[in-house]
Amino acid sequence: MSGWKTLLKILAKTVNGAPNDDALEQRVADLSAKFPDRKLIVVSNREPAQHFVKEDGSVGLRFFAGGLTTAMEPVLRAAGGTWVAAGQGDTDFEVLDAEHGVELDGYRLRRVSIPEHIYDDYYNGYANGALWPLFHNAYSEPVFRAHEWHRYEEANRLFAQAILEEAGDQPALILVNDYHFMLLPKMLRDSGKDLAIALFWHIPWPGRRVLRACPNQAALYDGMLGADLIGFHATEHVVNFLDTMDRSVESLVSIDQHTVTRSGRTTFVRAYPISIDVDEVREGAERAPFEETFPDLHETIRDRILLLGVDRLDYTKGIPHRVEIFRTMLERHPELRGRVILAQIGAPSRFQIDKYRQLAEEVENKVALTNQMFATPDWTPVQLLASHYDRRKLFGLYRRADVMLVTSLHDGMNLVAKEYVAAKSGECGTLVLSQFAGAADEFPEACLVNPFDIDGSAWMLGKVLLSSPEERTRNMQSMHSRLVAHDVYHWIDHLLTGLKDALDRTEAERQRIRPPES
Ligand code: G6P
Repeated sequence: MSGWKTLLKILAKTVNGAPNDDALEQRVADLSAKFPDRKLIVVSNREPAQHFVKEDGSVGLRFFAGGLTTAMEPVLRAAGGTWVAAGQGDTDFEVLDAEHGVELDGYRLRRVSIPEHIYDDYYNGYANGALWPLFHNAYSEPVFRAHEWHRYEEANRLFAQAILEEAGDQPALILVNDYHFMLLPKMLRDSGKDLAIALFWHIPWPGRRVLRACPNQAALYDGMLGADLIGFHATEHVVNFLDTMDRSVESLVSIDQHTVTRSGRTTFVRAYPISIDVDEVREGAERAPFEETFPDLHETIRDRILLLGVDRLDYTKGIPHRVEIFRTMLERHPELRGRVILAQIGAPSRFQIDKYRQLAEEVENKVALTNQMFATPDWTPVQLLASHYDRRKLFGLYRRADVMLVTSLHDGMNLVAKEYVAAKSGECGTLVLSQFAGAADEFPEACLVNPFDIDGSAWMLGKVLLSSPEERTRNMQSMHSRLVAHDVYHWIDHLLTGLKDALDRTEAERQRIRPPES
């Protein structure tokens, strides 16, 4: 399949110059032989881009900034294939061809139309009112409602139908993304088609005791185990998942092999920390400098020290904590007043849900309070930009930022942290990173904080701002080289290698137990 070849070329490009080129080239060649005849289908609820009507009446295309899109978009661009997602934009369904799809940058987007009453209960209700808080250790209490659960099932079924249509009679490789689709792997498996199914989990998997609150556990786990491979960001999540299966599902769990066998089928479970396209971010930062993309902010900041936060307005991201950390730091360091600005980009998110509207209000209040306390006629310490930005416009801003603040209370990976390191490209800058974000495992050189500890974090922030540029550059360079070696192509390479290995082992086992022919 031609798309795979492009991906391989990119893999080859990323491994060029690495110490052992021969071995890596061999790996690339091996990868091409893995799935030569399978069609690639990626599934996520959120589409990578929406079609909308511009002010002049023409149709525009807007790309999202969410973590999942950030990681999957380059893979699809390189590998080709089809991305199946829910259509949500004003004119999303007006631009489709007869097969409900549209060609994007090198791949096809198949939009699934989910009736509004189903979408509301499935997405705002079950996925984001129950599962999201549940898996983020309930910083907001998860709410389980029976009718929302049924809509969740229905939405999974609508996706299954669309995916099976896309696969047709061809063997396919389905890459399912996230907690919106826990039932999907089994639904696809039950179709009896020749499908290799990987489920990648973008959020944390907490300890099994937390998950016991969910009344639909059994069906959800059964659904997931239809996959050949389940990928998580961190080994901790793999361990928690295996423990959950061991205690909650009638199955054979091998802690050594990292497998779960149920009704004769084995699912392999592995950690694959997700990443980003490093070149895309660096080139974007060079192509669209901050002065051009954010002229007003540029005028406000002038030559001050810029602290930046970029998040969806979500209660797991610790945005109110961040504003408090900044305020406490200003209290402690009068010498920094007037010299620093915190710019917080907060993309409105899931606004149908009360908790999210309350959070937006809380953030606004905290920002207003800080500004009231410290503002002077020519300095407003916190600039809140509560709006959606095309992710490609943000990279120049990342590069300008002297400090990036990522203060999540609990986060699967957090790709903003990685995008910042990519945009800086080894130049002086500091990543202040929550120890509760998956990225903290990969960036020990970051300034690691506990965002619940406002005083301690404010102390760390003050220390960073007064530290030497040499030290900050050294840390940034070290993070940057690690990131370059572990970009999103490295991630997909590992994931696909894991999937191939899972399929081979399953086939070998099938051969082993097949009754001898008489
Ligand atoms: C997180 C989730 C993704 C989700 C993204 C944006 O990264 O893991 O599945 O798409 O947030 O959230 P939204 O609800 O806007 O799609």
